[in-house]
Amino acid sequence: MATEEPFSLIIFGASGDLTKRKLMPALWSLYAARVLPEPFAIVAVARTGMSHDEFRRRVREAIVEFARIQPPSDLVWERFASALFYLSGDPNDLALYPKLDRLLAETEAARGRHANRLFYCATPPSLYEPIVRNLGAAALAGEPSGWTRIVVEKPFGRDLESARALNRQLAAVFREEQVYRIDHYLGKETVQNILVFRFANGIFEPLWNRNHVAQVQITVAESLGVETRGAYYEESGALRDMLQNHMLQLLCLIAMESPVTFDAAPVRDEKNKVLAAIRPIDPAKLDEAAVRGQYGPGFAEGKRVPGYREEKGVAPDSRTETYVALRLLVDNWRWAGVPFYLRTGKRLAKRVSEIAIQFRRTPHMIFRRHPAGADSNTLVIRIQPDEGIGLTVAAKTPGPELKLGSVGLDFRYGDVYGGQPPEAYERLLLDAIHGDATLYARGDWVEQAWAILAPVLGAWAQDPTAPFPNYEAGTWGPGDADAFIARDGGAWRQP
Ligand code: BG6
Repeated sequence: MATEEPFSLIIFGASGDLTKRKLMPALWSLYAARVLPEPFAIVAVARTGMSHDEFRRRVREAIVEFARIQPPSDLVWERFASALFYLSGDPNDLALYPKLDRLLAETEAARGRHANRLFYCATPPSLYEPIVRNLGAAALAGEPSGWTRIVVEKPFGRDLESARALNRQLAAVFREEQVYRIDHYLGKETVQNILVFRFANGIFEPLWNRNHVAQVQITVAESLGVETRGAYYEESGALRDMLQNHMLQLLCLIAMESPVTFDAAPVRDEKNKVLAAIRPIDPAKLDEAAVRGQYGPGFAEGKRVPGYREEKGVAPDSRTETYVALRLLVDNWRWAGVPFYLRTGKRLAKRVSEIAIQFRRTPHMIFRRHPAGADSNTLVIRIQPDEGIGLTVAAKTPGPELKLGSVGLDFRYGDVYGGQPPEAYERLLLDAIHGDATLYARGDWVEQAWAILAPVLGAWAQDPTAPFPNYEAGTWGPGDADAFIARDGGAWRQP
């Protein structure tokens, strides 16, 4: 429920895509659902010169286009819009911050008292450090009354060194409890459900270990290409963009031990232990641990699409990977010897994110004389689309002969709860406002994640021989990825 504490959200990067597509629609949905603390003010900061009214008009357009709750009635919209403010200025420039302070003070005076403040860095990452430094220098990071917090968007650094530097900068100005490093995958309903599924049911946990699990496959496949983000993606690539954050978070949720309670400290401690147990990748045996790919021209939804090197903002000889697959081992008592395969890519055959836990076969098969036809039991957590959880089990196919087949036991979010699940940003914004960091990444976790990937990043950066492009748009990625998993006797699922 909405609290009665006044609250100000200050978004740096107000004219960017994230603000338009995700943040404002999420804030609107929270407001429409009456869970946004009131009275509130949203102060958007960006370089472009714009009046408050022009900004409000743009936000309305964004909401109509992207929000889950539609359409805003005029009356409700006017009330929401009256809490939106715009301030133009360069976040690099210290002179911006006294102006911001004045604007905040004005909006707060109108609401009768000092408000809690949440700063949000939604700018290009090169501005995170200057913003943090300037907030400190302008004495805006303190908590004279009420709280002050800061949300930092991904990418959090581009390697271990830069992540450490950003953490140091944050620590120089804020206490760790004030810092919220966002990973929007953690706010997805189906991702939140992983821990509920594991730890609120008694029947799965006894099976959740090396004695029963043969392998785990985590797939985050996208059918889109890099769209308008070629310039950003050139600096990033699939490993930095998706694997270092979203996918390692998923791995942690699957592999972690039960935290004592569902609170920020115990949950995040357990996730750190998983990363600490991941066997370091040996650069000398990189081929056994990682595969990369880049899409060439092909087809998406029946239409011809260009290759990555033809996309806007991309170098014609780019060596940036748009696909990555990793094989990771978690060296602890629970998971010793169980491979975790992670793959993600752009322009793959379809948009699907899922985690598949494949269980071991029966110790002895009494139906050997009959045509086998049943796969081993696989539990599939479908993150998106078609959110749900399915389990394949062997069953007798009807008829006079004894034949086995696989059937699915299925739970579909849509059927049970109806409609679309809420957007990840809604939950995460609300958590930051309520001071709950459970679904946010901690600084030491982020550093550990970069450290795990450092050997891959280093080896790929030094190796100029990437045979790109090596997969056609609209397929399941490079052939090397199939050979990679086949070495262990396995195969990728075709979700
Ligand atoms: C972002 C990446 O973090 O996640 C994008 O930068 C990617 O490249 C996106 O497309 C995927 O998110 P979702 O929620 O659409 O699966």
